[in-house]
Amino acid sequence: MKEEIKKIEEALEKDLKEVKNKNEANDLRVKYLGKKGFVTDLTKDMGSLSVDEKKELGKLANELKGKVTDKINGLISEMDRKELEERLKKDKIDPTLPATNLKVGGVHPLTKITEEVEELFISMGYDVVSGPEVEDDLHNFQLLNVPKNHPARDAQDTFYITDELLLRSQTSPVQARTMLKMKDKGPLRIICPGKVYRRDDDDATHSHQFNQIEGLVVGENISLADLKGTLEVFAKKMFGEDRKVRFRPSFFPFTEPSYEVDVSCFKCGGEGCNICKGTGWIEILGSGMVHPNVLRDCGYDPEIYTGFAFGLGIERVAMLRYGITDIRDFYTNDLRFLKNYNRMEGDK
Ligand code: DAH
Repeated sequence: MKEEIKKIEEALEKDLKEVKNKNEANDLRVKYLGKKGFVTDLTKDMGSLSVDEKKELGKLANELKGKVTDKINGLISEMDRKELEERLKKDKIDPTLPATNLKVGGVHPLTKITEEVEELFISMGYDVVSGPEVEDDLHNFQLLNVPKNHPARDAQDTFYITDELLLRSQTSPVQARTMLKMKDKGPLRIICPGKVYRRDDDDATHSHQFNQIEGLVVGENISLADLKGTLEVFAKKMFGEDRKVRFRPSFFPFTEPSYEVDVSCFKCGGEGCNICKGTGWIEILGSGMVHPNVLRDCGYDPEIYTGFAFGLGIERVAMLRYGITDIRDFYTNDLRFLKNYNRMEGDK
């Protein structure tokens, strides 16, 4: 028996010396320890032995198994170590080389405009709030004085999820949500930027998803003069100090009176050009005094409180500011477009 063990050990030593790679080392495992391996073979005829002999042979076989395993594993880890050493030698790192140009992301033009508007209104004491994009009919329409079957719903072809759930078609529902949350807690000054959705066919000036910023001020003596003053500050900040604003009567169900607001053209100063289509004025937003029904339904007594509201499209402001002619450019993530409005660091 001992003889046989010795023979196996000697054969193993010889085999180990001849191994050239890890695959061959693993083959040795099968050759010695596999089902038909040399070590397994040793214990094949144990049936005829006495109990004591079986014990003795079992012990020796186990020891041998341990030895063989250790040797093969040792060889494999030695091979790993050598491999690593060689790789480290080959792939030398030169810390004195100049760094490669890293591409750093930039701020999207829509984010830039949003942040600019936010900063302006925060400086005037407004809070920035947000609301859900999956809205219900109640907040998107009913609480804004647009009951079911009201013709004003046609102007905003809405994505309905169920009869009551929809993708919000405007940021105005955040007005209702904020008033309901704050009712009886006095005056409000908020803006709410966010995505809105409409069932429009996408083209150069329409997108089924775009961004708006809603503004709302509610207080005890808020008047149209406050709305005008606020929007004048806004227009000058976004389009230049010399801008004038013009209020044109319009209709929104949630405001009375309602206005479309235009700014004097920042390119021609009012003379008439291609940007203002010869009129000298550019429409930028919708606004008005909050309708008493909206105040009441959202928990503010219209006998005590008045308010103004406005809503503007961020894409429209960005397109005017940067001279962008196709709204789809904002969403197609073409790096050449993004870089143009925001040179990335590291670019030449
Ligand atoms: N929600 C309107 C729209 O999407 C924009 C708007 C107009 C918002 C007048 C207002 C407002 O708050 O007073 O077309």
